[in-house]
Amino acid sequence: MRETTYQLLSHTESNLIDAAKKASCQAYAPYSHFMVGSAVLLQDGTIITGNNQENKAYGSCVCAERVALLYATANYAHTPPVAIAIAACYNGQFTKQPVTPCGECRQVLAEMQARFNTPIRVLMYGEDVCCIANDISELLPLAF
Ligand code: THU
Repeated sequence: MRETTYQLLSHTESNLIDAAKKASCQAYAPYSHFMVGSAVLLQDGTIITGNNQENKAYGSCVCAERVALLYATANYAHTPPVAIAIAACYNGQFTKQPVTPCGECRQVLAEMQARFNTPIRVLMYGEDVCCIANDISELLPLAF
């Protein structure tokens, strides 16, 4: 895991974060008002975006990460995801600290990494600091 800033990222990394930031604007988050965006980079360069989709029945809410990841594998079943970027906006401002995926999303990431036998980099955006995990095992050690 490494900490860095947006300004120091490669073009590919900042481009993926930009896509996640843009996707957060279309989140449906009337209950938490926490607007999360995600962008998944596939091995062939395709970028799939998602955002959190909330529900009055809170247990039915789906995180931004899973919206994008599951769309990606549903539609590109033979193309490994190689990276995911996550950004969140609250009260009209992107968070200063990075937002990290919840446990359930980490489990989904672990399944995908194993399924395609390809590491998935996780880029977590914050205005002040970005965190980069090279591999989901850094976020979910000893995965089931
Ligand atoms: N959320 C995400 O979409 N991704 C995360 O990594 C953290 C949390 C969503 C779930 C819920 O809609 C809202 O943010 C508040 O938890």
